[in-house]
Amino acid sequence: MHLPIPLLSLFLAITPPLQASPAPANPQIPSPQHILVDSDALPTEFESTGFRIPTRNESTVLARRLLAKSRAGVLSTIFPKNITSPYVPAAVANTPIGLPDYIASCEEPTGNPTLLALTISTSTRNAVAGSNVSLAISWWDEYVKLTHAEPWSAANLPRASLIGYLEEMTKEEVEKAGVVKCFTGLHGDSRWWLPGDKSAAHAGVWMRMVVEQVYWIGGFGDRAFIGWFDPEVWRGVRTEEWKAVRLPGEKD
Ligand SMILES: *[C@@H]1O[C@H](CO)[C@@H](O)[C@H](O)[C@H]1NC(C)=O
Ligand SMILES: *[C@@H]1O[C@H](CO)[C@@H](O)[C@H](O)[C@H]1NC(C)=O
Ligand SMILES: *[C@@H]1O[C@H](CO)[C@@H](O)[C@H](O)[C@H]1NC(C)=O
Repeated sequence: MHLPIPLLSLFLAITPPLQASPAPANPQIPSPQHILVDSDALPTEFESTGFRIPTRNESTVLARRLLAKSRAGVLSTIFPKNITSPYVPAAVANTPIGLPDYIASCEEPTGNPTLLALTISTSTRNAVAGSNVSLAISWWDEYVKLTHAEPWSAANLPRASLIGYLEEMTKEEVEKAGVVKCFTGLHGDSRWWLPGDKSAAHAGVWMRMVVEQVYWIGGFGDRAFIGWFDPEVWRGVRTEEWKAVRLPGEKD
């Protein structure tokens, strides 16, 4: 067994037959995509039958499909070093906060998701104050929706963290990408707070998350790529490519 500690404890929690070998005093953590587990310890339905682990590039295409199919993610930002608002506890200075947010991939095929940033939102305030952001997306909810079943193990389903920064989209860019139609198509309720609408409940702006790095956990390390993508490959994935692949539970 050569598993990093978090994965190891995960496997121990879900696979009772697996015997733990004592952790070495100074464990050398292997690169995750080379982790192998004892396949006897996994349920037979997951036993590989001529299965090949998707490559890093193939996984990048799967991740672009995950982004394209995602309606929401957890957006993390970091509070400024100096908290100036009387409504924010000083104790959270320089600390990350993750909050679920609507997203839509309105600028395909760039791989940069679109967000409707309300000026009153904590995430927006932190980003405007200079914080970089990360956006976590997963296939967990969608898998259950598609299959009407809980996965045997959600830990074996794809998820990713996109890392970068937010920038405001120009009016021209919003029009060119058809952002309003794209975003309200996924989130009908967002028409009540569209940027530029004087009667909107809250003022907001269209933001582009510029993705600079992507960390991917395709599933268990013996059957999925786990690690960082090449950002150039992420940006270069064409729409036809992600449309041609399938995530777990999707029909052809
Ligand atoms: C991954 O894709 C990029 C862009 O298409 C290509 O340049 C690179 O050679 C590929 N890497 C592998 C290992 O196939
Ligand atoms: C916080 O603000 C105060 C007053 O403006 C300033 O003196 C101090 O250097 C700032 N601290 C940090 C960590 O930026
Ligand atoms: C944001 O990330 C960039 C690297 O992409 C880095 O150069 C910059 O210092 C980061 N900004 C902050 C406020 O940490």
